[in-house]
Amino acid sequence: MSEFRLTQISDTHLARRLPDLTDNFHRLSEHIDGRRPDLVINSGDLAFDAPTSPDDLEFARSLHAALPVPCRYLPGNHDVGDNPTSVGPVPPHPATEAARQTFLSTFGEDHWRFEAAGWCFVGLNSLIMNTGLPSEAEQFDWLASQLANTNGRPVALFLHKPLFLNAPGDPELAASAIRYVPMPARTRLVEMLGSVDLRLVASGHVHQRRDFTHSRIRHVWAPSAGFVIADQRQEVIGIKEVGLVEYRFQPDCFEVLHLRAPGQVDVDLDSLLGASS
Ligand SMILES: [Fe+2]
Ligand SMILES: [Fe+2]
Repeated sequence: MSEFRLTQISDTHLARRLPDLTDNFHRLSEHIDGRRPDLVINSGDLAFDAPTSPDDLEFARSLHAALPVPCRYLPGNHDVGDNPTSVGPVPPHPATEAARQTFLSTFGEDHWRFEAAGWCFVGLNSLIMNTGLPSEAEQFDWLASQLANTNGRPVALFLHKPLFLNAPGDPELAASAIRYVPMPARTRLVEMLGSVDLRLVASGHVHQRRDFTHSRIRHVWAPSAGFVIADQRQEVIGIKEVGLVEYRFQPDCFEVLHLRAPGQVDVDLDSLLGASS
């Protein structure tokens, strides 16, 4: 295969009780049905909030199972709980092995690697980082073994949380530590990735679209497929809109297309919280 077409969706946040988000997912599904990429990756927060509403995960599974193309999944903090950080408040629902196991039994592997069009694609569970869970160490060991045999192929990394705001050494701040891969796991991850030809880091989580390059590595923040967060709740970093990202990979190069599926609507989080309370 000389070209590989990949669609990234993220932060679908599906729940039976929130039909506006289901509507946005259906618009996404119709778009995907028309485009028929080789693969869809959901980069996490598939469920609106599985730690408090476990059925959300099953509901998200049923909707994704109806997509007409192969899918791969990564967990988000609203699927398996969140990372502990050294500077921020303790998350209300820290990531646990039990929640990870529920994700595995519902969606399959939480980390994976495959090759297509001369590229090596790696997906990681970013929520177990800094937890000290055995699965954190196991994933790092697995990653080291995978990175050891890329055979010079360019690497595209997918994970829920962005690695950083602007640069690997950005200081962790209490107000935003929960937004990025936490220290010191970030430093370890960045060092490991330094051994390969990393070209792309694709993430979700922030619910803002962003696309920038640092040290010749492109960082793409996929927007949420479901909802945006008002400025009074969250600072503006990129573009606050719902949508998706399409990629075309060919040996040694790739293209990125930022778009919104026809009919997708910028639902606001506050309207959802009003509807669900
Ligand atoms: Fe999210
Ligand atoms: Fe998230």
